[in-house]
Amino acid sequence: MCGIVAYTGANSALPVLISGLKRLEYRGYDSAGVSLLDDDGIVTVKTAGKVSDLEKELADLSEDIRLTSATCGIAHTRWATHGTPCTANAHPHSGCKGRFAIVHNGIIENYLALRQALEDQGHHFRSDTDSEVVAHLLEQAAGLDPNADSAALVKTILPKLQGSYALAILDRDSAGRVFCVCHDSPLVVAADGSMAASDLPALICAGVNEVVYLPDDQLVGLGRPLTGFTIKRIDTDLTEAEHSGFPDFMLKEIYEQPAVAKYAMRNDFSNLDLNTRDIRRVYVVACGTSYHAGLIGRDLIEKWAQLPVDARVASEFRYGNPYMDEHTLVIALTQSGETADTLEAAKLARSRGAKVLALTNVLGSRITQVADIVVNIQASLEIAVAATKSYVAQVIVLTKLALYLACARGLLTPAHLTNIEAQMALLPDQIQSLLDQRQTIEQVACQCLNAHTVLYIGRGVGATTCLEGALKLKEISYVHAEAFYAGEIKHGPIALIDPIGVTDKVKATPVIAVACAQATYDKMISNIEEVQARGAKVIAIASEGDEHIAELTPHVIYIPHTSECLMPVLAAIPMQLIARYIAVEHGQNVDQPRNLAKSVTVE
Ligand code: F6R
Repeated sequence: MCGIVAYTGANSALPVLISGLKRLEYRGYDSAGVSLLDDDGIVTVKTAGKVSDLEKELADLSEDIRLTSATCGIAHTRWATHGTPCTANAHPHSGCKGRFAIVHNGIIENYLALRQALEDQGHHFRSDTDSEVVAHLLEQAAGLDPNADSAALVKTILPKLQGSYALAILDRDSAGRVFCVCHDSPLVVAADGSMAASDLPALICAGVNEVVYLPDDQLVGLGRPLTGFTIKRIDTDLTEAEHSGFPDFMLKEIYEQPAVAKYAMRNDFSNLDLNTRDIRRVYVVACGTSYHAGLIGRDLIEKWAQLPVDARVASEFRYGNPYMDEHTLVIALTQSGETADTLEAAKLARSRGAKVLALTNVLGSRITQVADIVVNIQASLEIAVAATKSYVAQVIVLTKLALYLACARGLLTPAHLTNIEAQMALLPDQIQSLLDQRQTIEQVACQCLNAHTVLYIGRGVGATTCLEGALKLKEISYVHAEAFYAGEIKHGPIALIDPIGVTDKVKATPVIAVACAQATYDKMISNIEEVQARGAKVIAIASEGDEHIAELTPHVIYIPHTSECLMPVLAAIPMQLIARYIAVEHGQNVDQPRNLAKSVTVE
C-alpha cells in the first residue's frame, strides 16, 4: 500500500521521483506529494488525487527554480489508512520547524499516544495521519540533542514506533542524503545508493539493475553505495511495466495468460524439501483472489493426495487457534508476497512448528523471508489492481503441487498423471482461443450492463470460479455481485431474483452460471432451470459442443473441453473479460479501482 520513491544523485530529482511514482501508482492513488532538498532547505508540493494531479500542481509552480535544480528528494503516492484523502493528509509530512520531511508506508499503531505526548509538549499537527508523528518525533529528538547527526536522530526515534513502517527521510541539515529504514513493510534500495522505492518498478524505470531488499531495522543513507548487504541483480524487463499497446494493464495481463500458463506448469516440486511422507495436514492461507485459487488447491490436494486440507482466509487464520504441529504443511499463497495478513499467518504457522511453503510472484518479497520453502509462480510483474494472470498461475501451480503430493504418496497412477499433464499442456492454446473470442464474450456480457446485481452460481470448482468472477466484477465495476453454490440457492439466495424478469427480459436479474462438463452437470442444469423459472436471465459458461445448454439460454460462452480439475483455469478467462468489459462500459478506471490498492501491506 502506498508508494515511496527516494532519489539523490547528479540529476534533477523531480523527473526521477515522478516517473517512479507513476510506476508505483497501483499501490495507492488517492493523494501524492514530493519534497525536494537543496542548500536552502526543503520544499514540499502535495495534493489530493493522482500523480497526474501532482504533475499539474508542479506545472503551475514551474517558475520555482528549486523544483528543477534540486538533486535530492522523496515522493509518495498514498492509499489512505488514517484520515481522508486530502492535501493535508498527503505525504511528505513535516514537523513544526520544517527541518525534516518524511514519507511513510505502513501503520504506526501507537500514533495516538505519541501524538498526544507531542501535542502536550507544544507540537502542532497539520494532518490526521499516523505518519506525521515521525516528523515531530525527529524534531523533538533534534531539540533534545542538537549535536546528533541525522542517522543518530532516526535511530533514537525508531524504538518508539510500534507497527509497520517503510520510511524515507530528508533532513535539512544533511544535504544530499535520504535516510531509509523499514520494519514489516518493504523498501528496495539501489545498490549504488542513488535510489530507494517501496517496489521494484520505480527503480527499474530509472535504469537501476542491482538492488538490496532492505532488511528490517537497518538504517541506510542514500548518497553512498551500500556495503555489507546481499546485492540482487534485477532481470525484470521494463516492458513488463508498459501498456504495450493495450488500453489498460488489466487487458494486457489477461492477454499474457497463455504465456503465463506455459511458465507456471514448468514448476517442479521434486527438488524441494517437502518431506511429503511426513505431512498429515495441510492449510492453504491467503486473501482475496489468492484465497480463491487456494480453494481450488484445497479441493485438488484433498482429492488426489488424500490429505485433510483446509483453506483459510489469512486474516481469520492468524487470529484463530488453528491446530498445527510439525506434520502440518501451510501453503501461503500471495501474489505480492507482501500481504500483511498472509505474512502474519505464515509467521504463526512457523512458530507452531509447521512447515511454510510460499507460492508468490515476487521473489525477494517479505513472504520469501518468512517461509521455509519458496516457489515462484512466474506470472511476471502484475500491475493492474485486479489479479488476473497471477490467479491463473496460482491455480496451475497448485494443480502441479497436488499432483506431486499425490504421486509422492503413491496415490496417483502413471496413466492418470499422464492424462492430466497432457490436458494441462493444451491450456495455453485453449486460453488463446478464448481470448480470440473476446468480442463474442463481450457481446454476451452486454446482458449484465446496468444490472443492480449480478449473481454467479456453480458447483465444485465451478463454484470457486464464480467466487472469483464475482470478486472481479465488484472490484472494478462497483456493480454488486455475489457468488453462490448452486445447490444452496434454494436455501435463501434465490429470493434475490427479481420476478420482473418473468415479463421483462431486459431488466431481469443476470445470473452467470458455470455449467461446464462436470460430474454435477445435470444438477447444474436443474439449478439453471430453477433460477429461470423465477425470471433470471442466465448467462451460461459451458463446454464446447454442449447443445443442450443452448436450448435453455441464448447467452452462452463456450470454453474448450478440458478435464474438470483444469476447468477453473479456462472458465476464469471469460469471467475476467466480462468484469473488465462491464467496468469499461460503466466508465471506470479498471487498473485503479476506487478504494483499492495492489499490495495490502496493512491489516
Ligand atoms: C483481487 C485482488 C486481491 C488480492 C489480495 C491478496 O483482484 O487482487 O483480492 O488477491 O489482496 O493479494 P496477494 O495475492 O498479493 O496476497
